[in-house]
Amino acid sequence: MPVPFNLADALDTALKSAAVTAGLEAAAFAPEVRTADARHGDFQANGVLGYAKARKLNPRAVAEKLTTALPAEVSADYDVVIAGPGFINFTLKPATLLAWLRTHDSAAHLKASAATVRQGQTWVVDYSSPNTAKQMHVGHLRSAVIGEAICRLLEFSGAKVIRDNHIGDWGTQFGKLIWAYQRHLDPVALAADPLEEFERLYKVGNAAAEADPAVLEQARQELVKLQGGDPANLAIWKEINGASLGAFQQIYDQLGITFDVTLGESFYNDQVERIYRELTETGLAEESQGALVVFHPEHARFKTQPFIMRKADGASNYATTDLATALYRTEHFHADGIVVVTDFRQADHFEQLFLAVKKWFAAKHYRLPELHHVTFGVITGEDGKALRTRDGGTIKLKELLAEAEARAFALVSERSADIPPDERQKIAAVVGVASIQYSDLSQNRSSDYVFAWDKIISLEGNTAAYLLYAGARIHSIFRKLGTTESGATAANPDPTGQAGALETPAELALARKLVKFADAIRLATDTLRPHFLSLYLYELAGEFSAFYAADKVAVGDPAIRARRLLLCGRTLLVLETGLNLLGLRTLTRM
Ligand code: ARG
Repeated sequence: MPVPFNLADALDTALKSAAVTAGLEAAAFAPEVRTADARHGDFQANGVLGYAKARKLNPRAVAEKLTTALPAEVSADYDVVIAGPGFINFTLKPATLLAWLRTHDSAAHLKASAATVRQGQTWVVDYSSPNTAKQMHVGHLRSAVIGEAICRLLEFSGAKVIRDNHIGDWGTQFGKLIWAYQRHLDPVALAADPLEEFERLYKVGNAAAEADPAVLEQARQELVKLQGGDPANLAIWKEINGASLGAFQQIYDQLGITFDVTLGESFYNDQVERIYRELTETGLAEESQGALVVFHPEHARFKTQPFIMRKADGASNYATTDLATALYRTEHFHADGIVVVTDFRQADHFEQLFLAVKKWFAAKHYRLPELHHVTFGVITGEDGKALRTRDGGTIKLKELLAEAEARAFALVSERSADIPPDERQKIAAVVGVASIQYSDLSQNRSSDYVFAWDKIISLEGNTAAYLLYAGARIHSIFRKLGTTESGATAANPDPTGQAGALETPAELALARKLVKFADAIRLATDTLRPHFLSLYLYELAGEFSAFYAADKVAVGDPAIRARRLLLCGRTLLVLETGLNLLGLRTLTRM
C-alpha cells in the first residue's frame, strides 16, 4: 500500500472502518484524528472520549476494541498506544517515514494527493474589492493578502476557485466627482497620475458642496443623470473606473494576484428589481418608514435592527447589490461555496445578509452554497492607533510596498554583499513583498495587527525573510553537493534510491514534521485561517535548522548522505509549496 499524503485523514478512515468491525455505532463515531503534541506521538484520535461519554461506556474499553479492529496496515506503519482516559496515539515507524518521503516527491503530486471533499466544487472568493476613484491604502492590504492565500488553499484542496474583485464602483461619491471633473479637471495631472487627480477632484467637489447648497444639489443631479444612463456622465464614470483598475492592477501584480472576474456593484444594477420582488413575495421584506427592510425576529439584535435593502428615496444600496451578488454567484457560477473577505466592521452586514439569503433561498428552493464571511482586525501602528503617515494621512499601498522593498534591499545587502547589486535588487523585490504578506498571514486574522517594520523585515523570528532564507540555504546545499557522483538535485534528491532508514533524532524529528504538512493545510483550509500553515512552516524551518546543525549532510557514507539529501529535498518541496500556498514567491539564492 502506498503511504498516503494526508496521514491523519487515512487514520480517520481506518478508525471508521475499525468502528464497523468492532461493532460500534459507526455512523455516530467521529475519530477526530489530529496532529499530536510531539510528546504523545505523531497523531492522536480524540473522538473516542465523546463517543463513550454520550453512551456511558468506558472510553478505554472502547479504545481497546477499536485498536484491536484496526486494519493490519495501520499496525505495520505505526506504534499504536492507548493513553490517558482513552486517547489513541499513533507514532510512525521510521520505515513509514522514509516511505512517505520517497512517495511524495513533487508539487504536482502533493496537490493531486491533497484533494478533499472540495474536489470538483466551485468556490467564489470575493476579496480585495476596493472602492474606485481612490488609491489603495494600507487598509486594503489585508483583504488582498488573506483572500489570495485562501484562494490558493481552496484550490489545493481540489476546488475550482473564481477570484472575484467586487469593486465599489457605484457609490454616491460619483456625483461630486463628476461635478468637479466637469469644471476643475487638470489634464496634465490626469495624465501623470489619474488616481491622484480623481482624489483631488473629489476633495474639490466635496468642499464646494459643503460650502454651497446649490453645488450639493448640482452634484446630486449629476448622480441622478449617471444612474439614469446619461452618456456624458457614463463616459466620465467609465474613465474613472478604468483608471482605477489600471492602478489597482499594479498592486495586484506585485502581490501575485490575478482576478478571474471583476464584477463590481454596478454590474448588479439591473438585477435589483428581481431582488425586491422575490424578497417581498416570500414575505421576508417589509415596508418600514418608506424603506424596504428585512428583520430577523429570531435574532437578538436583528429583530429590531433593519437590513435596509431599498432606501426610502427608492435607491438601491450595498445590501441590495450584495443580495443580487449572492444570487448571481449561485445561478451563474453554480457556487458550492462563497467567501467574502473584509474587515470585521462589516460583520453585521454579512450576518444579516447571510440570514436573509438562507431564508430567501429556502423559500424559493434555490440551492444554498456554503457562506463564509472571513473577517480580520485593523492594522495599527506600534502605539495601537490606526496606521498613518507622520502628518496623519493614510499610507498608500504602493508606497508601503516600495518601502518594504527598500528595507529588504538593506537587509540583503548587509548579509550578502557578495551578490551583485542588480540581483540583490531582484531578491529585495521578492523579500519586500513577501515580508508584508507573511507578517499578515502569520498571525490569527481575527486579531488587530501591529505593524512594526523591524519585526516584519527581519531574518529573526517568524518572518518571510527567515523562511525564504531557509529555502535558499537548501538550494545552496544542492548547488554544492548535487554535482557529485550521485547527481542529486533538489527536485530529485536521491536519484539512485540509496537513502536508507532514518536514524538520528534530528533526522527523525524533521521527517516527523514533514509528514504533518497535509494536516496543517487541512486545518488552515477548513478554518479559512492561513496562520495555521504559517506556523507550521516556521516550525518546519526550525526543525530543519536543528537537523542541519546536528547532522552533517556531506558525509562519505553514500546511504547516510542520500537520506540526508532526501530530507533536504523534501523540506524544500514542502517549504516552497507552503509558501506558494500563502501567495509568496520564493528564492533560490538570498
Ligand atoms: N467595497 C467594499 C469596501 O471597500 C468591500 C466589498 C466586499 N464585498 C462585498 N460583496 N460586499 O468596504
